[in-house]
Amino acid sequence: MKQLSDRSKLFTESRIREMTILSNKYGAINLSQGFPEFDPPHELKSALEAQSKTAHHQYAPNWGIDDLRMAIAEKQSRGFGFDVKPDEVLVTVGSTEGMISTMMAVLDPGDKVIIFSPYYNSYALNAAIVGAEPIFVSLKGKDYKFDETELEDAFRQGAKALILCNPSNPCGKVYTKDELEVIARLAKQYDAYVFTDEVYEHIIYGDNKHINLASLPGMFERTVTCTSLSKTYSLTGWRLGYVTAPFEILEQIRKFHDVFTVCAPTPLQYSAVCALRFGDEYYAELKKVYTAKKERFIKALDDLDIAHNEPQGTYFVLTDISKYGYKSDLEFAKLLVKEYGIAGVPGFCFFKENENRYIRFRFAKNDETLDEVARRFERLENDRIHGRIRPESTN
Ligand SMILES: Cc1ncc(COP(=O)(O)O)c(C=O)c1O
Repeated sequence: MKQLSDRSKLFTESRIREMTILSNKYGAINLSQGFPEFDPPHELKSALEAQSKTAHHQYAPNWGIDDLRMAIAEKQSRGFGFDVKPDEVLVTVGSTEGMISTMMAVLDPGDKVIIFSPYYNSYALNAAIVGAEPIFVSLKGKDYKFDETELEDAFRQGAKALILCNPSNPCGKVYTKDELEVIARLAKQYDAYVFTDEVYEHIIYGDNKHINLASLPGMFERTVTCTSLSKTYSLTGWRLGYVTAPFEILEQIRKFHDVFTVCAPTPLQYSAVCALRFGDEYYAELKKVYTAKKERFIKALDDLDIAHNEPQGTYFVLTDISKYGYKSDLEFAKLLVKEYGIAGVPGFCFFKENENRYIRFRFAKNDETLDEVARRFERLENDRIHGRIRPESTN
């Protein structure tokens, strides 16, 4: 038999998926993969039920159905602060498909693309598919700041685009207006595109404010905004996302969307229209719910002196596992699943730098589940105090 493609060798099984498989095998609580443990709002479930009795069972228009694109355009207009037209919106199969279709449309093999590290690993895989070369720029310190000179240096190397995950998975950073202005200034100066991933735009804590990069002066024309219904409405399985961009760019992205998917699922598109029309109170409640979960989870860590970062957005926390003495975060993550029934993701898969002292946990869980996780962490901490954790034997 002839060899399979060289391209397929660029990929290894995702660590997140691997941790989920391990978690299932050991019946652990899965805090690794990124989906909420609760249902979408009842309006969406009712709309879906009603759809089963309609005639919307065939292909939708490739761009997405008019009603949904109109509702998305209205929502984006509110966020961007100016009029976004339905023709500047493409409904995709999740933000995941939106991002790869965007990269296919804008980047050629050999083009350079800037990615902040730590990063959501699908960006590097997308770059590999497209044949683009990532230039990683580190986010440093407890606020995950980038160094302006380093960023400019990356643009100076001829980057054609930058990927901005805001709020950022895995570190929970929400970019400030000043930071976005620096990115915007450099993108304009060096004539680069920006692809944003804003799937956590409504999961924000405290006074942090999510600002759409496309809303900054002169940025709409060079920004492709990828986002999703997955996290905002707790329906990751519906696979609905959308891309907002100037028509001339979107027209090209659409061709790849067509080849990859034909269209997003028709009955789900019809069912989702109502969500895009939710008022401010829906997003305020979402923020309240996630703030309570974050505080519950972080209190459990603080009570046990387990060091962690302070997420400004998203539903992830990076915990620092240095005190357990493991040299390998992967080995520690396996110990957590097998012995303590908690699945997290070893941090090394999110970093370009040589980091292996973090485990990422997702706290989009019911309160009872979070309390059970706290009890399991307590047992871990007890074992550490009593010298029952022996990294040497597995490291
Ligand atoms: C940063 C980020 N972008 C995109 C996605 C996937 O979004 P979607 O379900 O819309 O494809 C995830 C899911 O975990 C994510 O964390």
